[in-house]
Amino acid sequence: MYGRTKGRRLSKKQKLFLRNHGKDLIFDDGKMEEFLHETFRPEENIFDNKKVYLEIGFGSGEHLGHKAERHKESKFIGCDYYLNGIASAVIKITEKELSNVRLFNGDAIKLLNKIPNKSLYEVYLLYPDPWPKFRHLKRRFISDQNLRLLASKLIDGGALKVVTDSDIYFTHIKSVVLTQKISKIFSFKGPDFSQPWKDWYSTKYEEKAKKAGRRSYYMVLKKIIVNSHI
Ligand SMILES: C[S@@+](CC[C@H](N)C(=O)[O-])C[C@H]1O[C@@H](n2cnc3c(N)ncnc32)[C@H](O)[C@@H]1O
Repeated sequence: MYGRTKGRRLSKKQKLFLRNHGKDLIFDDGKMEEFLHETFRPEENIFDNKKVYLEIGFGSGEHLGHKAERHKESKFIGCDYYLNGIASAVIKITEKELSNVRLFNGDAIKLLNKIPNKSLYEVYLLYPDPWPKFRHLKRRFISDQNLRLLASKLIDGGALKVVTDSDIYFTHIKSVVLTQKISKIFSFKGPDFSQPWKDWYSTKYEEKAKKAGRRSYYMVLKKIIVNSHI
């Protein structure tokens, strides 16, 4: 975990919503087993017949809230460790009266390690911290190891959707995805990644990128094989 967990002081509204609704919406390491059991019902192995989406690093939750509102029949898990963002997401979820979203306050890798294999329909990683300096390469979320972990958690045919406005991170992602091993697990189609997918919904960081005149790369990595050896 490399980013900040707290920023400026929480507003009165953020504090109020965290206090009143946080315990119903947020789970942490301590409650993870219980939450995952309720969500995935491993003994029945049917995942409640609902699609489960995961958004890693949801920021203030605009994309997460929008998707959950559009797909009330599905379940959404958001994961972030930035408290101010979590509080903003709690406000959005509560005001939209969404009952199909839960937030994990912690590191995505910890959560992913506990999620049952082949259970996620889609995973979103939108504007992940690019860590552009070479000496911070290891901090980038997209790595060979993390892609294999993500693939093992996606259902067959599921997808990882990634957006970045960093040329350096885009080049990095391509270099990882196009290795022999990973290209057998994920298909990665261009042609130039300049167009968002059909139901794309903008995020705060996309707005920042647009204002600064940076282009974004929209990447869909579709899981292509059933893999027992991932
Ligand atoms: C650059 S912001 C992008 C926020 C949002 N997706 C958007 O597009 O506006 C990256 C977010 O990812 C979160 N993050 C980074 N690494 C993470 C990890 N390992 N687990 C959970 N959240 C993470 C950060 O706290 C931050 O909120």
